[in-house]
Amino acid sequence: MKENINKEFVARFNSEGVFYASSGRINLIGEHTDYNGGFVFPGAIDKCIMAEIKPNGSDKVRVYSIDIDSYVEFGLKEEDAPTAQWARYIFGVCREIIKRGGKVGGFDTVFAGNVPLGAGLSSSAALESCFAFALNDLFNDNKIDKFELAKIGQSTEHNYCGVNCGIMDQFASIFGKKNCLMRLDCRSMEFKYFPFEPKGYKLVLVDSVVKHELVDSPYNKRRESCERVSKFLGVETLRDANMDMLMSVKGKISDEDFKRAKFVIGEKQRVLDVSFALQDNDYATVGVKMYETHDGLSKDYEVSCVELDYLNDIAKECGVTGSRIMGGGFGGCTINLVKDELYDKFITTAKEKFASKYGHEPKVYEVVISDGAHKCE
Ligand code: GLA
Repeated sequence: MKENINKEFVARFNSEGVFYASSGRINLIGEHTDYNGGFVFPGAIDKCIMAEIKPNGSDKVRVYSIDIDSYVEFGLKEEDAPTAQWARYIFGVCREIIKRGGKVGGFDTVFAGNVPLGAGLSSSAALESCFAFALNDLFNDNKIDKFELAKIGQSTEHNYCGVNCGIMDQFASIFGKKNCLMRLDCRSMEFKYFPFEPKGYKLVLVDSVVKHELVDSPYNKRRESCERVSKFLGVETLRDANMDMLMSVKGKISDEDFKRAKFVIGEKQRVLDVSFALQDNDYATVGVKMYETHDGLSKDYEVSCVELDYLNDIAKECGVTGSRIMGGGFGGCTINLVKDELYDKFITTAKEKFASKYGHEPKVYEVVISDGAHKCE
C-alpha cells in the first residue's frame, strides 16, 4: 500500500511527503452506548487508512484517493466545502482544527486504505483520525491532545457528514494499542487498556457484505429516542438511568422509545460484566453477554437485519462461544469469539449456509488488535 501511494504521489506532485496511518476498529461489547454516556470496549485493528502528505505552501488542499480513483481540490474556508462525500471527511477535519484555533495550511496528499467499506469497521473514523493526527504533527507541533483529535473526527461527522455519532470510533482509531482492547467510560472519558490475547480462542469477523439503505437517518433517530427518554426521566443521559426508573415510565413514553432505552440500560451493565469476566479469563461469560447484546440490538434497538440474524443463528448452532452484530448496524458484520477447535467448522458452515440462502458468501476477517494513529517510518 505504501509503495503504491508513494508512486502515485511522486507522479502527481513531483515530490515526496510524510506517511501517516490510522486504523479501523472492532468493538467487543458496548454498542450504541457511547452517545448515552455509557461504556464501550473497542480496539484498533490491522486494517487502516494510510496517507502521504506534504504541505504545499498555498491555501489549497489537493487530494487524490487511490481507491475511489478521484481527485479533488478545495480551499480551507467554510464556503470551500467540496461536494464529494469522501473529501468532506478531510475538509471537515481541516475546518474543525481551524475552528479550535489550530493551524492548517494547504497540502498535497494521496491516500488509500484496506478497511472494508460498509462493514461496520469505521473506515470513516480511520480516515478522519489519520488526517487529524497528521495535521497536528505537520502544522501544530502536536499541541492538540489526543482526545481533542478524536473529537475533531467526531465533529467532522456531525457537522460535515450528517451523522450524530458518539466518540467510540475516533477514540479507538487514535488511542488503539497492539494486543489491547480499551474500556472507555464515555461520560468521564476515563479509559483503561485490557491486554487481549484469549488463549484457545479466535476473534473473527463475518461480513455479510450487506448494507441496507439508511433512509431517514435511522442512526440519528435511535439517538433521538434515547435523548427523549433521558429528558423524560430528568437525567442527563441514559447512563444515569436504571431499569426501575425506566419501568416507572412505561406507558408514558412510546413503546419504541421504551425498547430503545431498555437495550441501552442493559448494555451498560453488560460491558461491566464483560470487563470482570475478562479479568478472570472467563470467556464463557463474555460469550453469553455477546449473544445477549445481539438479541437486544435485534429485538429492542432494531438495528440488525435478517442476514445478520442468520449469521448469529449459525454461530449459535455451531456452538460458537459468543457472537453478535457489531457497530452501528443496518448491515455490516458479526463479531465472533470462537474456540480454536471449532473455527474451521464454523467458517465453512457459515459460508455454505449463508451462500445458499443469500446467493453470496460472507467475507471473513481474523482480527489482529493493532496500534492506532501513527506516523509511519
Ligand atoms: C457507529 C458510531 C459510534 C457508535 C456505534 C454503535 O459506529 O460511529 O459512535 O455509536 O455506531 O455502537
